[in-house]
Amino acid sequence: MKIVISNDHAAVNMKFEIKAYLESLGHEVIDVGAQDSTSCHYPEYGAKAGRMVADGEADCGVLICGTGVGISIAANKIHGVRAAVCSEPVTARLVKEHNHANMIAFGERIVGIETAKAILDAWLGAECMGGRHQLRVDMLDAM
Ligand code: RB5
Repeated sequence: MKIVISNDHAAVNMKFEIKAYLESLGHEVIDVGAQDSTSCHYPEYGAKAGRMVADGEADCGVLICGTGVGISIAANKIHGVRAAVCSEPVTARLVKEHNHANMIAFGERIVGIETAKAILDAWLGAECMGGRHQLRVDMLDAM
């Protein structure tokens, strides 16, 4: 898959580790995040990645900031983005199955690297369930 990854200054280290992990799984990773720890603004980085998913330039996206929250709020401002903050794998699976989340977010200050990988494994390995969930996703998209 083509996966866009984005981050702010609080998540540079984890971004590079996660980027390498996704590439090791065979994914193409487009990195639009901050490249060093110089203070920057997560709304810009969340929106940039969100636009790429909404426009179909990427199949899905990974967002990382200190908590995962700010950058996901920014991405969710983009119509068509469904970004979910997760700190463990069960929620990560369910946000794909039920909410058809096309972006996942987590925080470098919240989860360790192994938990972050487990979150990605659960999310990437899950399928959108459709059916009654599709109806609700359609309602979200109509907002
Ligand atoms: C940056 O200090 C921090 O506020 C940001 O990375 C994020 O946690 C915001 O939600």
